[in-house]
Amino acid sequence: MTRICVFPGDGIGPEVVREALSVLRTVEEVSGTRRFETEEELLGGASYDAHGVPMTERALSLARSSDAILLGAVGGPKWDQLPFEVRPERGLLELRKTFGLFANLRPAKVYGPLVDASPLRRELVEGIDLLVVRELTGGIYFGEPRGVRMIDGVETGCNTEVYARPEIERVARVAFELGRKRTGRVTSVDKANVLETSVLWRKVVTEVGEREFPDVALSHMLVDNCAMQLVRSPRQFDVIVTTNLFGDILTDEASMVTGSIGMLPSASLGGKVGLYEPIHGSAPDIAGKGLANPLAMILSVAMMLNYSFDMTEEAALIENAVGKALADGYRTGDIYREGPGIRRVGTSEIGDKVRRILLDTT
Ligand code: IPM
Ligand code: MN
Repeated sequence: MTRICVFPGDGIGPEVVREALSVLRTVEEVSGTRRFETEEELLGGASYDAHGVPMTERALSLARSSDAILLGAVGGPKWDQLPFEVRPERGLLELRKTFGLFANLRPAKVYGPLVDASPLRRELVEGIDLLVVRELTGGIYFGEPRGVRMIDGVETGCNTEVYARPEIERVARVAFELGRKRTGRVTSVDKANVLETSVLWRKVVTEVGEREFPDVALSHMLVDNCAMQLVRSPRQFDVIVTTNLFGDILTDEASMVTGSIGMLPSASLGGKVGLYEPIHGSAPDIAGKGLANPLAMILSVAMMLNYSFDMTEEAALIENAVGKALADGYRTGDIYREGPGIRRVGTSEIGDKVRRILLDTT
């Protein structure tokens, strides 16, 4: 029996997780190769409300004894005034850090039927298929010193970008391995014209490439230019490898280029237990209304089957079913545009559609 730890989290988290789990049940039914046992725990604001902390010891040990973790989303304005140490986001960051999940894979691919949902012109968008490998346990998210204190009578905030050579080497390797399996191109993104950490980043990525992956074409790009290139000609990219903060920002941008942030899944790897979550947040404005797009969460389940359980066929079934649901005109509000045969549906309707397609095609 395979054990999955489920953190629905806050906002739209629980509604998208519900759809994703029932897709997982359907896959279990139709493929019959593996049985999944799921157990839920609170995380983020929901955990704070119930226990006063964003992640309890119990939640952590459930995660530790599982084979993979599924996570909806954390955070929301309700918890904005909380002291930093107990904010919902701390639960997620602690989880990533504790499990050593240093490589965050964020594929941004455009689905044919969604080309017109992108704010960019069709000819720029068609065929985008890129993968951002975001460093996830280092950089300015975790560097010391940090905090807000009085310095010479002036209130002063401080965060520190730190990267040690091994942290850069290991994430570079992940990116090169993936690049090798794709089109053999990796773009490393940094700010080496200003930041010393970026100078080291560029040097180490170059060395790893030359030494271990001479067959992969490596190029370097400054992050401001990359932000611009992502809207100017996004198809030029295959694998992008970058730091924690730059990756956070660039993947939100990449997601909109492909149509909607509600479509992009992610996998966080590097430790014993992989964590799978959509890149979108908790969207408190639409939470509880049945309007959220569950496809990023459903595609995160596909990534879990792929990376944690080597169930590539089942993962492909889910991806194809998502594509087919879109081709059949099903759209949640975030990807809706009036058109012949296009219908605006809610969270559970599009989830149902994906399940029905899975049942029909197997
Ligand atoms: C993400 C989110 C998180 C991050 C937040 C919720 C801490 O924005 O996964 O992209 O910044 O990493
Ligand atoms: Mn983010």
